[in-house]
Amino acid sequence: MFYLCQACHSLKTVLQQRLSREVWDETLVWMIEEQGMPAPEPADYARLLDYLGTYLSPETPR
Ligand code: HEC
Repeated sequence: MFYLCQACHSLKTVLQQRLSREVWDETLVWMIEEQGMPAPEPADYARLLDYLGTYLSPETPR
């Protein structure tokens, strides 16, 4: 899954974030529309969002 995000920046850029699912959604749209990230299939997009919203939420310990 994260091969996608690592293509442009180190995973640390992603892993140091603690965002709510809503904000991750906005971040992904921003990556796709403004940063040139190839848009994932809707099913992959949903899985990615679930993962980020679950494991990198504001409640996740660093
Ligand atoms: C096509 C290139 C590209 C891909 C693929 C990409 N990003 Fe990014 N991302 C960027 C760029 C460029 C920036 C820096 C933007 C800036 O600061 O103006 C960035 C910055 C970020 C940031 C930091 C935002 C902040 O507030 O500083 C996060 C979080 C992030 N990306 C998440 C992701 C995730 C999650 C994925 C995979 C689903 C992803 N990115 C895939 C180009 C990409």
